[in-house]
Formats: sequence, structure tokens, C-alpha cells
Amino acid sequence: MNSTEKKWWKEAVVYQIYPRSFMDSNGDGIGDLKGIIEKIPYLKELGVNVVWLSPIYQSPNDDNGYDISDYRRIMDEFGTMDDFQQLLMLCHEAGIRLVMDLVVNHTSDEHAWFVESRKDRTNPYRDYYIWRDPADGKAPNNWGSCFGGSAWQFDEQTGQYYLHFFSKKQPDLNWENENVRNAVYDMMKWWLDKGVDGFRMDVISLISKDQEFKDGEPELTGYSSFNVCANGPRVHEFLQEMRRKVLSKYDLLTVGECTGGTLEEAKKYASSDEKELNMAFQFEHVTLDADTNNKWGLKPLNLVKLKEIMTKWQVGLEGKAWNSLFWCNHDQPRMVSRLGNDREYREISAKMLATCLHMMQGTPYVYQGEELAMTNMPFQDLSEFRDLDSINGYHEMVEVKKLMTSEEMLTSLRKKSRDNSRTPMQWDDSTNAGFSTGTPWIKVNPNYTEINAREQLQRPDSVFHYYQKLIQLRKQHEIIVYGKYELLDGTNPDVYAYTRALDNEKLLIVCNFTSKELDYPIPEMYKDGSCLISNYPDNTIGNKLRPYEAYVLHIEL
Ligand code: NOJ
Repeated sequence: MNSTEKKWWKEAVVYQIYPRSFMDSNGDGIGDLKGIIEKIPYLKELGVNVVWLSPIYQSPNDDNGYDISDYRRIMDEFGTMDDFQQLLMLCHEAGIRLVMDLVVNHTSDEHAWFVESRKDRTNPYRDYYIWRDPADGKAPNNWGSCFGGSAWQFDEQTGQYYLHFFSKKQPDLNWENENVRNAVYDMMKWWLDKGVDGFRMDVISLISKDQEFKDGEPELTGYSSFNVCANGPRVHEFLQEMRRKVLSKYDLLTVGECTGGTLEEAKKYASSDEKELNMAFQFEHVTLDADTNNKWGLKPLNLVKLKEIMTKWQVGLEGKAWNSLFWCNHDQPRMVSRLGNDREYREISAKMLATCLHMMQGTPYVYQGEELAMTNMPFQDLSEFRDLDSINGYHEMVEVKKLMTSEEMLTSLRKKSRDNSRTPMQWDDSTNAGFSTGTPWIKVNPNYTEINAREQLQRPDSVFHYYQKLIQLRKQHEIIVYGKYELLDGTNPDVYAYTRALDNEKLLIVCNFTSKELDYPIPEMYKDGSCLISNYPDNTIGNKLRPYEAYVLHIEL
């Protein structure tokens, strides 16, 4: 199979829902499944054909559902299994497939397996998790948790440490144990037999741990540990087993969150010969504005570097594996605040960023609110944050390590905190943006009176309608899905221009990433091309690019 072999999941556009913040139907301040049901017509109008639901399983919510205590129950706050069945049925009726989040690198410490496991060293579930003796009275090695501190937690009861790459309430499962793997596969089949259409696999690149548990570089913290622990020795063997035993029996969309993934690894995870998954999320392009030595440090984005990385993945996977395309998700700040201009050019720059991404090869993911150009939140102080990563980060950087002042850290959090993308969806300009009649679990962005779905649905030139058009274009033109990508003017620091080619058709995509007016003559070959989409209302394309201007020209040879 090669990249032009047709598959429904290559032609899909996925919409990610973070249920807690999407729509609250019962006034408890927390989004729920009935709320999502209410909004199916909205999703249909946008034109997406897959929904990925962030976790909806039973959870004590230490990490908002990414800590699961029962894989076969719906979180009480979100509703019941009947609500889920109804959601699934109504999505299917609307032509929307439903993809679940699969979080199986770890469970909650309140999962029955872990409750048993920690009871004593001979418990049959002991080996479901990763327990080690102390080394010289300390943690077994220097691996750090992604949310700060050591990745090992000492458990008094049995005198051993357990491994947790995330919070201490998220113990890592031991994938070396065949019973664990089979229990996970059974649970997956249970959901697939209900009719769900696939899985987004949380940090799947971390499931296989090198059994030597050697120290990494000194002072490993946060995600840097994953450079040591990602893509472990048996990860591909495990995923191939999962494919054989489960995935191959259904027609699914599967996407692996491949933290620490390299191009070579991605070719294995998402190989076109379909041994493992359909596609992988890689994060290289969203780490470019981060300081490599300090997760909370800020660095300006270098467009030349961004183009280099995007191109590396576009070209590197061509014909060998399939890309997934995203600027944002529930772990990233808002796209328009990060890469665009969330003030005077908010709409234009959001449309430019959408054009740049949606014209590439791969399956695009739209994160809730992105289609409205929702922005980062003007957080005032620490008490407004809910995300444990942001809160732990503050305590570690300001109080324990004293590497940043409180104001410096708040500045960083306003730019980088995951809570920026977790504020409630802005439906209209009524109280709480129409999200809830109660008190929302996290503050609503005060700009909802201006930025909201109702206003944009009424206005033909809104960001919502622009996304709708991009999604329609993808359905109409095979070249957008399957065409070959080529970068133009790689060293231009302001403009991202590239082409796509399929049979006798070509596309030219030009995006001004700055607020300046720039000279950018239309390449000769495209002068008489037809404009598929552009983000300025008059639709005139010239040899000058206006601030954040983007256009797509189509020619037939
Ligand atoms: C990645 C998820 O996207 C993130 O939200 C979560 O905190 C970690 N994995 C742990 O599950």
C-alpha cells in the first residue's frame, strides 16, 4: 500500500472533544454526554466526520479522566452507559464516527487492579504494575515524572516503589505481563463490539519499559525522561500483537500519541503496510517555541525551523506511513495565541493557520473552539488554574527550585498552560457562554461575548465558515488528501509556501505568518490558477501579501 491508496480515515477530518469543557446539560458546571448530543447538529454543520472523545471513563479526575479507575463505566459527572449508547447511535446517524481515548500506559491508583496490587508482594495483581526495591534507600533510578518530581513513589505498606510517568495517582501498567495485555485487549474488544470506530492511544510510545531501568541523564525531569523511555524495546511487538488480536478484526481509525517519536519510529507505528496503527501524533512542531532546558521557558518561534520540521514529516512519511495534522489539542495552548495574532488579526491569522495545516497531506484534527479562533485565557493568579501540571509546575519552579519568580511563572502559564485550551466552549453571549447554567469547573474566557459560536454561525465570513469550507474542499479535491507535498522557499523567514501534486493537478499554498505586508509574486505557473480559498474577503490575490494573508491556487496541467 502507498500513501495514495484510498482509506476513509485518510479522507476524514477529526474533531476532538474535551467533554468536561464542551457542553453541560444538567447545570453542574461540568460538560457531559447529553451536552455533546445536543451539539451533534453543530458538528454536522461544520462537516467533520469523526469525533475523538477525550476520556469519558470512571475516574477520580486527578488528571481529568486520564486516570481511569474503571474502563467499563462512564464517569458519573458525564452520564450513563445509556447516554453513551445514544450518543454513539446519533453520531452514526449523522454520519460521524466516534473514536475513544485509550489510556493504557497507566491506570488510576483507584483502579481495582492497583488496589489489589499494592496490598502485598504476593498478590496476583502485584505484577500488573512496576514495583522495584529502593536503591540505597532512594528511588530505583533518576527518571522524572512528566508532572514534576521523581517518577517513583514509595509505598509504605510493602516497602517498594512503583513507577508513574505521570502523577502518583497514575501508576504505569506492566506491559511485560501477558495478563495485563490480554485484559487491555478484552476491554478494547468490549468497546469495539458496542460499535465505536477506533482509538486515540494515549502515550502509547511509553508502554514498553527497558527492563534494566538504567539511570538516564542526570536531573531528568518532565518530558525529557521520555527521550530515555519512549519507543522501548518491545513497543512494536506489543502493538503488532494488539493489531493481530484486536484491531485487524474491525475497520477502525487508530492514532497513537507518540511522545518522543522520531520519523524512523513513526514509520513503524503508522506504517502503510498496516502492521500497527493508522497514524501517529508527533510533537516536534509544537516544541519549537519551548526552551529545551526548561519546560516552562519561552522561546520565539522560528518559521524556517517550523517549515523544516513540517516538511521533514510530510516528505519523510510520503508513501510509507500516514501523517496526522494538528496545531492544538487539550495539552497545548490555543493555536491563534501561540502562532498567530490573537488581537487585531485574530480571525485572519486563525484562518491562515488553518489553511496552512489543512492543505497538507495527512488527517487533520480540529480541537474544540479552534474553529471559532478561541484564544488563550487571561489568567490572573494561580487559584484560577485547574490543571495539575500547571499547579505542580508553579510550586516546583517558584517555591521549591526558586528558578522563576511568581510573575515570570504566571507569564509562562498564560502562554503555555494546558488550561488555556480547557476553558469552556463559547457557544453564545449568554451567562457562562451558554456552556452551563451552573458554576463552570474552570472559568470561562471573558471574551465570550465577542467570540462565540452563535455569532459566527450567523456571519458568512466567520472562522467557523472558513473551517467548514476547508473541510468541504478536502471532500471535493482528492489532491488535498493524497497529493505529494513540496516546500517552496525554505529559507524565507516570513512566508510558508508549498505545493501539492496529484496526476495532472497542482496546488499552490501561500501563507504570510507575519503582520507585515510582504512582496511575494505569484509563481508564473500559477498565475491563471483558480483560487480555492483565501482569507481576505475581496478574494483578490496579488503580488503582495497582506498581514497573515493565505491563499490556495489550483491548476490543471
Ligand atoms: C497525554 C494526554 O494527552 C494528557 O492530557 C495526559 O495528562 C497524559 N497523556 C497522561 O495520560
